[in-house]
Amino acid sequence: MKVLNLFIFLFLGLAGAVSAQLNSFPESYYIDQQDIGRARKIISTPLRSELKMPNPDKDAQWFPEASLGLFMHWGIHSVVGAQPSWDMISNYIYGGKVSPPDKYYALAEQFNPQEYDPGKWLKAAEEAGFTYAVLTTKHHDGYALWPSKYGIGTKQYMNGRDLLKPYVDACRKNGLKVGFYFSPRDWHYPGLMHPNEYDALTKNDIPPVTDSVANYHAYEKFLGFVLKQIEELLTSYGKIDVLWLDGMYFRGVSDMHTEQVYAWIRSLQPGIVINDRWSNVVNPDDPSGSGMRIGDFTTPFECTKPTYIPSEWWEHCDIWTSGNGGWGYDKTGVFKPYSWFFEHLAASRSLGGNFLPNVGPAGNGEMPPNFYVNMKGIAEWMEHSRESLIGAGPSPGVGRSNVMITSCGNTWYLHLLPQFTGQVSLKTDKWPKSVTLLRTGQAVAFSYWDGFIKFNLSPDYRTEMDDVVKVQL
Ligand code: GLC
Repeated sequence: MKVLNLFIFLFLGLAGAVSAQLNSFPESYYIDQQDIGRARKIISTPLRSELKMPNPDKDAQWFPEASLGLFMHWGIHSVVGAQPSWDMISNYIYGGKVSPPDKYYALAEQFNPQEYDPGKWLKAAEEAGFTYAVLTTKHHDGYALWPSKYGIGTKQYMNGRDLLKPYVDACRKNGLKVGFYFSPRDWHYPGLMHPNEYDALTKNDIPPVTDSVANYHAYEKFLGFVLKQIEELLTSYGKIDVLWLDGMYFRGVSDMHTEQVYAWIRSLQPGIVINDRWSNVVNPDDPSGSGMRIGDFTTPFECTKPTYIPSEWWEHCDIWTSGNGGWGYDKTGVFKPYSWFFEHLAASRSLGGNFLPNVGPAGNGEMPPNFYVNMKGIAEWMEHSRESLIGAGPSPGVGRSNVMITSCGNTWYLHLLPQFTGQVSLKTDKWPKSVTLLRTGQAVAFSYWDGFIKFNLSPDYRTEMDDVVKVQL
């Protein structure tokens, strides 16, 4: 009897360990022929007409004025504050801390957010002027925050709990547009990664694809899987406003058929706005490879302040917290200062783009306390100066001033960030009707000479945020 007990104990112990490994649940990657056939048909059927981008649908037109969105990377990595996915790649400079992959996937056993209350997160964000949110439904690690019929996720580890439904409901309740981040590449999908790719030192040492026909069939099957998951996301939660993709990948296949896939996505959600990261097609005119990007909006300024207008609609994403934890939960709890936040938001708006700062919720579902401190500070600022950034138009000309400008018709907003000191100079064609400090409404004394408005704002009026001077022409 004792021996039998020991045997059962050992067996269960092993079974527990097995369930959290890289190659767990192979059966949930089964894709039926019909779904593979659909994927094949989508990529092999040329579009009848060119897909218009940005999306001309009336339901997509909110995007260029959205101004400020909240990016959230959340998943099994959050329980230890690891860098999402990349921490499983051994010897990787931006990760590697929870490698090898079996160790990383074991985090799935601990991810069980009991304090999850997205209504609290998003109410604070809405009050601070945020108009949309983007949550990682599945990062490269492949762990789905919804009980997908495919792959790994809450289906196996949380009794099928759906973490997306409360998020979507909370977005709607607080008037925020709903964004889903989704990584098509999935490092848990059997065979997608060569074993060497889990180590930065050996990742390029991979035998070439020999049977390209079989490889293409494997790609169609993988695409079938990816499309099934996207279909679940886009047909189970009502209207989804943003699909934030992050890299389709399959060894030995270069054409990812972006336009055909995007047309199919629009057939499910006609008013959706999709970013440029299904794949980037290299622009032959730009051999440096930074390339041409296909999507309703582009995302070239990742963690770098925008300096030019890259496309009609675009977005700048960056890490709001100290960066310890990368895109994920930051155990230090430290946020970058307000000056950083406003500088990046003003830089985005003055060039007509949106700003998407990222915060990682903790594994238990709570936002770091400083999230609420920052949101409150920004909400107070928004009470007097919102019009200068949220929905504000771009600069009337970058060379006109030594500070950043946003606009609304004949009203121009000058952004004096904490790091700016000295005299503000603005080139205009006419004498302004008024020059006021937006926070208080007080008139600002200025001179006008030779087409230039000039003024100094006394240090008594300067703050640690963005001091906006409103010029009416
Ligand atoms: C990059 C990173 C990914 C992150 C994303 C956010 O693609 O690889 O980890 O989620 O940027 O912009």
